[in-house]
Amino acid sequence: MFGGSIAKAVVNVGDLKKTQNKNLAYAIYFCIIKFDMALSLIREITALTLNPIRHNLELDFDDHAELNTDLDLNFPGVQTQHATHSLHTYVAAINPPLAETMIKHYVPEGETVLDPFCGGGGVMVEAALSGRSAIGCDINPLAVLLSKVKTRHISSARMLKCYEKVLAEAEAEAKNTKIDDVPDIVRFWYLEDSLKPLKALQKAILKIKDEDLRELFQVSLSATARDTMLTYRGEIRLRRLQGKDLERFKPNIFAAFKKRALSAIGKVDSLPHGARATILNLDCRKLTEAQRCHTVITSPPYGDDKNGVGYFQFSRNMLYWIGVSLEDQKQQKENFLGSMANGFDDIPNTPTLSQILEIIGTKKAGHHKEAASFYADYYKGLKRIAAVTDERVIVIIGDRVLSRTKINNGHITTEFMQDIGWSLEHYYSRVLTKKRIANLGGDGGGISLEHIMVFRRA
Ligand SMILES: C[S@@+](CC[C@H](N)C(=O)[O-])C[C@H]1O[C@@H](n2cnc3c(N)ncnc32)[C@H](O)[C@@H]1O
Repeated sequence: MFGGSIAKAVVNVGDLKKTQNKNLAYAIYFCIIKFDMALSLIREITALTLNPIRHNLELDFDDHAELNTDLDLNFPGVQTQHATHSLHTYVAAINPPLAETMIKHYVPEGETVLDPFCGGGGVMVEAALSGRSAIGCDINPLAVLLSKVKTRHISSARMLKCYEKVLAEAEAEAKNTKIDDVPDIVRFWYLEDSLKPLKALQKAILKIKDEDLRELFQVSLSATARDTMLTYRGEIRLRRLQGKDLERFKPNIFAAFKKRALSAIGKVDSLPHGARATILNLDCRKLTEAQRCHTVITSPPYGDDKNGVGYFQFSRNMLYWIGVSLEDQKQQKENFLGSMANGFDDIPNTPTLSQILEIIGTKKAGHHKEAASFYADYYKGLKRIAAVTDERVIVIIGDRVLSRTKINNGHITTEFMQDIGWSLEHYYSRVLTKKRIANLGGDGGGISLEHIMVFRRA
């Protein structure tokens, strides 16, 4: 990013404290961040028009598509980390230009978009930036925190005052901070020297009374905890650094926190005033009339939490540092689609799913149960989602592999929606080039195509 490199070259954030005139240094820093953002807004996407495309004929979705060669939904060269998207990473996050395009095409200004699996808040941010009201829910408290903070404007003066206080307190207390209560499962991922500063920051941040500010710095702490974790980057599942990689990794917690917090302050200050999405820690199967919306835009889990994308494994350490105990995490996880915590409803009797379950059943009983429970929960979720939606439900989902059997989530979703009384209006697809794929002998991987399906009440 052009502006980002200038920012790095002109102001070394780590040196800000040493600068004689600190306020001037902050002012320069934020001007550069804003310049950077202005640049990222001048994006190709403004020139795009959207018409359904016909693509990948392996799928029988032709009847629902019109050909349009103008649009490449892979958005080559288009900025994806603009605005607050880069505040914190999230696993299997939606492509922001895709979210923006769908919102602008399908949701009129002033209407409400709902993302019932809002994750890191990609759809929420794009809705806030484009003047649509947004409602998001997720069962993962990390997702809820990120989605809130990424959509809520706070003035930089308020944030900086609090930042100075938190930092001074944590730096002063770090040496004497007790770390006996950090569970082994969390310790395993950090150098011993990192624990005291992380704990001191955690304590100072959890004491902040103002909820908006506390949550903002919880996000910066969580991003710091991720940046300084002893794990390989760019992989879905955590894998501890080894050998030379481990020796070379020398994280500095306070420096990492300063960088994250100052960058967040600049970006949150630039959000539109009054853009505030409603974000709930809620199971999508419990949506009510209070969450009624014009259109849903969402990317649900693929049913591969156990053998592919491990949402809670990915989030565990970050959840711990933001103050969610391991016990609470376990409870939240029970609401995950397919968790089998409370048994599951009847398996929907739709053709593609029935066929696939029959094949998997002949291979591995455990996998059959896992898939059956996920799709039973997924069906129930879609039914509830459709019940609170006025116009369209847009589902973005990839396929998966289980017991060496390809599961076509596009077909399964379409048949579920038809069963619920909605029909496929438009179909698009995009090839995933940068998808992080777990190395699990094929069962977690193989996801290279994303289906984008637009449903309307039949
Ligand atoms: C593919 S991710 C969504 C990513 C999101 N679109 C983003 O841009 O970051 C799927 C999400 O579904 C959430 N989830 C799983 N079961 C759920 C349920 N029963 N209700 C609501 N959310 C659920 C997971 O916690 C995860 O955040």
